[in-house]
Amino acid sequence: MEQRTISDLRLNHTMLLTPNPAELSAFYKKALDMEVTLRGELYICTGTDRCIVLGEGKSRTLGFAAYACKNEEELAQLRKKISASGGNIEQSPSPVFDESAFSLRDPDGNTFVFGVFPQNDNLSSKESLPGRMQHLAFASDEPEALLSFYTDTLGFLLADRVEDEEGVLRACFFNTDSEHHSLAIFTAGEKRLDHQCFEAGDWNLIRDWADYMAQYDIPLQWGPGRHGPGNNLFFMIRDPEGNWLEISAELEIITLDRPIGVWEHEPKTLNSWGQASLRS
Ligand SMILES: [Fe+2]
Repeated sequence: MEQRTISDLRLNHTMLLTPNPAELSAFYKKALDMEVTLRGELYICTGTDRCIVLGEGKSRTLGFAAYACKNEEELAQLRKKISASGGNIEQSPSPVFDESAFSLRDPDGNTFVFGVFPQNDNLSSKESLPGRMQHLAFASDEPEALLSFYTDTLGFLLADRVEDEEGVLRACFFNTDSEHHSLAIFTAGEKRLDHQCFEAGDWNLIRDWADYMAQYDIPLQWGPGRHGPGNNLFFMIRDPEGNWLEISAELEIITLDRPIGVWEHEPKTLNSWGQASLRS
């Protein structure tokens, strides 16, 4: 059996489309304790180890998800591997990564960017609550095609899958470093971005973030709770356009000998503490 390997690839930043980037950037500045800089027509929102680029376009649409390799050598190896697996490599649209970055689209049309973020360089000089960019999730009506693409073409590792009574895939979680997941898919009736997540660290920081949201009258929409896959503590809010944002803590660390987990498709899998949000 092939040895599981940990590639050390981390979600670094995302781009979100919105009809009104100026207005949405004001929300992100407040809700995620970020600073905003304008680069051309793009609004770059940054906090400690987190960055969301806002650009004009259709509401609730992901522009791209950008993952960072540790160094140029690993980026070159990843590019070679993706090309050898039939991935159609295109230019990077990211204003954050340098010219060595590249992109490709998954079968649902979601754009992934891979690059290297400069060593010892934070995304922001602003002192802010801890919450580094950690994962994102897509909803899809063709999850099996995405699963094949992420594992076979991108080389992401499957950590856990959620199946219904017939064994049909209802959710799955991929790891790209030692953390349980940096990408997830939820089976739904449509293809869309599901949520973006920021890892705060420990449970007390979930409290601090909830108190922080309360200062700005931003209600928690789901949680606090504990997910089954990943075992992380979490709560979720929505931005004014309905995009889900998750604050997480204490996400499971994966070991090389950990077998792929299979979970039942039931509310308790999504939230062992209570109410769940089933996508299908
Ligand atoms: Fe999540």
